[in-house]
Amino acid sequence: MKLPKIFKDKDADLNLIKNKTIGIIGFGNQGRAQALNLSDSGIGVKVGLREGSSNWQSAVESGLKCESIQDLVGNCELISLLIPDQIMGEVYSKLIAPHLTEGQTLLFSHGYNIHYKMIQPPEFINVIMAAPSGSGSEVRKQFKLGKGIPGLIAVHQDFSGNSFELALSYSKAIGLARMGVFESTFKEETETDLFGEQMILTGGIPKLIQSAYKVLLEANYNPVTAWFVCYYELKTIVDMFHSKGFEFMNNAISDTAEYGGITRGNRIIDEQVQNEMRIALKEIQSGKFHKEWMKESESGYPNLKNMRKEEKQNPIEKISKHLLKELCENK
Ligand SMILES: NC(=O)c1ccc[n+]([C@@H]2O[C@H](COP(=O)([O-])OP(=O)(O)OC[C@H]3O[C@@H](n4cnc5c(N)ncnc54)[C@H](OP(=O)(O)O)[C@@H]3O)[C@@H](O)[C@H]2O)c1
Repeated sequence: MKLPKIFKDKDADLNLIKNKTIGIIGFGNQGRAQALNLSDSGIGVKVGLREGSSNWQSAVESGLKCESIQDLVGNCELISLLIPDQIMGEVYSKLIAPHLTEGQTLLFSHGYNIHYKMIQPPEFINVIMAAPSGSGSEVRKQFKLGKGIPGLIAVHQDFSGNSFELALSYSKAIGLARMGVFESTFKEETETDLFGEQMILTGGIPKLIQSAYKVLLEANYNPVTAWFVCYYELKTIVDMFHSKGFEFMNNAISDTAEYGGITRGNRIIDEQVQNEMRIALKEIQSGKFHKEWMKESESGYPNLKNMRKEEKQNPIEKISKHLLKELCENK
């Protein structure tokens, strides 16, 4: 199998973006982290926020210049869009598109709006992506430790002829190229990112934990003991295979755990589950999930609000808060 090239700091030229005026729209999870990392890398960076933004003061207190989104678009050569995906199209149409000029670069950290055509940029700009493989807090934390997290870069539209190098340069400035970046496409990044979230990261794993905990409680086991096996011990296992692979994990656990895990794991995650995964992937590829999510967003998140309430009532939520507090206090 031929693996794609991993681009590192040595492959990237920081001067490419050092010579440009950089604007970050949004000062939330990614906006804050990327703006501060850029600034620490010696890049002149401004933050663009909507009027009355609760984050304006926080950005200024962090030493960053702030201005309105419209002004930022008028004043910057590279504009990084770091606001929620479901409102990005609307903000783009109203505040960004009318102010774009030839040769500017729009940078995304997720391909969603370009892939689903919520944003259709003019042909006289570059459209690139630098997508960190992790949360904004991790982007910032690892950068401050002198490390970084990996990421994907992609070019959707290359007006200037050096868009790939620009994406690489930006990745270096926010710390991604310290670990390594891979070339992808907006389509691939969007579809795989949504699939990974739904099947594993924010869907499959939390739901597996909640279900297993429920089953142990139904069988009258002690909630604390059930919580330890279903919730707390996950981190030790993830840490093991995350750094060294599943074989290392299997060598580090007991033979009993290995045998029971593989036999029963194959029963739980069976062909039916895999078929559901295939259906979910098709919903992402066809745009069905996107349409559903936009409808939810446009109608004020009625289902999401209900589901948030339900999630708070999940039995594991209460005990997690209690035990995590107890365990941390006793550290
Ligand atoms: N979250 C992650 O860990 C992560 C990881 C990888 C990639 N990404 C990508 O990074 C991008 C940003 O995600 P995020 O999680 O960082 O977003 P976020 O934290 O939810 O963004 C918050 C910022 O967006 C601004 N904002 C919200 N609604 C707005 C509106 N209607 N008009 C103007 N500004 C508005 C907020 O403004 P105020 O300051 O006024 O409140 C705030 O500054 C997305 O494309 C996402 O897919 C995120």
